[in-house]
Amino acid sequence: MLKMSEVVKGYATDTIQTQALQPFNLEIQQGEFISVVGPSGAGKTTFLNILGLLEEPCRGHYLLDGEPVLTFSDSRKAKLRNTKIGFIFQSFNLIPELSVYGNVELPLRYRRLPANTRKHRVLKTLKAVGLINRANHKPYQLSGGQQQRAAIARALVGEPSILLADEPTGNLDSVKSEEIMSLLLDINRQGTTLLMVTHDPVLALKAQRTIEIRDGILKERCARHYAARWRVESLTL
Ligand SMILES: Nc1ncnc2c1ncn2[C@@H]1O[C@H](COP(=O)(O)OP(=O)(O)OP(=O)(O)O)[C@@H](O)[C@H]1O
Ligand SMILES: [Mg+2]
Repeated sequence: MLKMSEVVKGYATDTIQTQALQPFNLEIQQGEFISVVGPSGAGKTTFLNILGLLEEPCRGHYLLDGEPVLTFSDSRKAKLRNTKIGFIFQSFNLIPELSVYGNVELPLRYRRLPANTRKHRVLKTLKAVGLINRANHKPYQLSGGQQQRAAIARALVGEPSILLADEPTGNLDSVKSEEIMSLLLDINRQGTTLLMVTHDPVLALKAQRTIEIRDGILKERCARHYAARWRVESLTL
């Protein structure tokens, strides 16, 4: 279970002070699927980064499975990320010099798992995302959808309990995006908590809960309300 209270995030650069996220409270149970929606620049990626311990909030409390994770040292946070949290980034962030196999294996190398355990897990995960026949390709030799699946495999290989997906279907056509979505739904059905940023109201509707972020303000939304409003907005554009 994940519990955040009075979390705030701001950024200060030389010229401008941005209040990226206004104070918010949030509770998420293990196994939930939550979609995160809102316009560009609203704070969605910042929100996922804080959840995933990639960024520190300016204030607030964060309990992850009962542990006050914000008080942990950087190395303890990194270890926790490596074991509990899977991240699918808005840009795939694959390492260009490594093959698909090498990219997916990397989190397990950090964990210092023995070679045969790593191999077994990497092959199993590549099979699950349908990339086994691309294991030796470099990222540039893959299509956008395949790169996204490689990034998903890298997020899943460590068997995380939370998967944070930042627009996992943003760069894909509708057929590919449905493929990726059904893969993510499968993972969620097996008990992994899923938080997914999306601009697609149809995908947002598949979640049990929807969080809308506007100008750094988080609001829990009924997904149907969001979809209906989106239809109205797209008609009036
Ligand atoms: N490192 C940073 N330094 C300063 N400002 C930042 C930094 N990262 C993000 N911001 C600002 O915080 C706000 C929220 O950014 P964020 O990336 O979370 O938006 P987003 O909702 O993910 O947008 P998009 O849909 O375009 O990905 C933006 O105004 C952005 O310019
Ligand atoms: Mg973003």
